[in-house]
Amino acid sequence: MVYRDGLMPIIGRSLGPRSGRIGPLLLLLILVGSCRRPGGAESEIEQTYRSACGRCHGADGKGGFAPEGQNPPRNFCDAAFQRDRSDEQLALVIRSGKGSMPAFGNLFTDSELRGLVQKIRRFRPAEEAR
Ligand code: HEC
Repeated sequence: MVYRDGLMPIIGRSLGPRSGRIGPLLLLLILVGSCRRPGGAESEIEQTYRSACGRCHGADGKGGFAPEGQNPPRNFCDAAFQRDRSDEQLALVIRSGKGSMPAFGNLFTDSELRGLVQKIRRFRPAEEAR
């Protein structure tokens, strides 16, 4: 049988005497990996923010630089910014763009859009959150 004569001895040999050491290491790697991937809607939004917004707005939400003559990305950690904008206004800018901020149009579903607005709100400084 192919099973007995072919495949199994190969697997047996490749794990061989070292499998005792590799086993616990693999288990550790799997555990570490699963801790890094918490799953759920929030972490998806974190990923979306990081890949679609982070390059301009920064992981810390403080923004960066803009081309000459353009407004820089807003500082989401600024209390005045947070106070002056409604959730609807934030969502509108994400959809329609503003200055050198690109319009994301219908790229995001309504729930993703809400998630992104909440994500921006999480940059609000602590004394403003009360
Ligand atoms: C190419 C760089 C760039 C990317 C990518 C980007 N932004 Fe911006 N964003 C800007 C700039 C520049 C401004 C400031 C625009 C202005 O005030 O003229 C801004 C402003 C904003 C504002 C504030 C608008 C206001 O009311 O003044 C929000 C909210 C925002 N961005 C959210 C996001 C989100 C969410 C994403 C990802 C989905 C994103 N941005 C991706 C550059 C970017």
